[in-house]
Amino acid sequence: MLQLSFAERLCLWQQQHGRHGLPWQQADAYRIWLSEIMLQQTQVSSVLAYYPRFLARFPDVSSLASASLDEVLVLWSGLGYYSRARNLHKAAQMVVQEFAGEFPRTRLQLERLPGVGRSTAAAIAAFAFAERETILDGNVKRVLTRCFGVEGFPGDKKVEQQLWCLAESLLPTDAAFMTAYTQGLMDLGATICRRSKPACILCPMVDVCVAARDGRTAELPLRRPKKAVPTKHTVMLLATHGDQVWLQRRPPTGIWGGLLSLPEFASSLAVEDWLAQMGQGDILPAWDELEHVFTHYRLIITPLPVRLAQLQAQGTKELDGQWLSLELAAEAGVPAPVKRLLLQLANAR
Ligand code: ADE
Repeated sequence: MLQLSFAERLCLWQQQHGRHGLPWQQADAYRIWLSEIMLQQTQVSSVLAYYPRFLARFPDVSSLASASLDEVLVLWSGLGYYSRARNLHKAAQMVVQEFAGEFPRTRLQLERLPGVGRSTAAAIAAFAFAERETILDGNVKRVLTRCFGVEGFPGDKKVEQQLWCLAESLLPTDAAFMTAYTQGLMDLGATICRRSKPACILCPMVDVCVAARDGRTAELPLRRPKKAVPTKHTVMLLATHGDQVWLQRRPPTGIWGGLLSLPEFASSLAVEDWLAQMGQGDILPAWDELEHVFTHYRLIITPLPVRLAQLQAQGTKELDGQWLSLELAAEAGVPAPVKRLLLQLANAR
């Protein structure tokens, strides 16, 4: 038997198993546009409650254009992402003023309306005017990366461009199928090719899908690559004198700004000078390293215990810090890894 194309399979599947009877299906361009804006980042189930109410008050583009923004916002209230409502109002006025009240029919003209990006413009053009334009929202990116084994992160400009080209190449040749095809892409992404636990067994593409064949549905689409974060090293001094520990306040800006903390050094060599100033004592073997991850770098901490036998009165003044009992120190507002070290120090006694 002749192999069916991607578009043919999808349209046949949509007609039998896709979603039908949604209130914006077979509507005019105004109603389709409104539904597509409401459905951006919003579930069908939420939109179903708002859509008829909005249309009852604003049955056409001119009633929406002549309303006040406040009234539009009231009807949008609860749907979220309110810039959508502001753009909707502006776009309605643009349709009235620049397009003589007639919705533009091409994807490129639709893209001039505020709040209408390429994929939304394509959806409106396909549903309302059977234009051969492809949608490519997050769900469709997932369907295509899995089905065709597209590598790379889909948010990456190059990968996204590749997906637009692939999506365009898959369009049905006959424009009469644009509604079923576009709805099919949406339905497949929403109901079968879900992000987690896709229902591959029900999918019309399962026998050609690369991700299903290779067991990679959990892996594709690839996630955003993690930025390589630099690693920094620091030595933290655990200087004790009897049951007291030496803490000093960090500068007001930068990490842990203004918190009490342990003194830090770039290397254990620099500790010798500090010790000479503070008094007499011993540097003990370093503890195991500790890792602390910030958003912008990883900090590897080498904890270095120093036991001071005798203090030099001058040192305590010049070194700008304070001796605190171990109990008080662990309770003070110190950074999390410092607190861990102080508790470890208290436990070791
Ligand atoms: N999500 C975005 N557009 C949609 C539509 N027309 N039907 C169902 N879900 C959608």
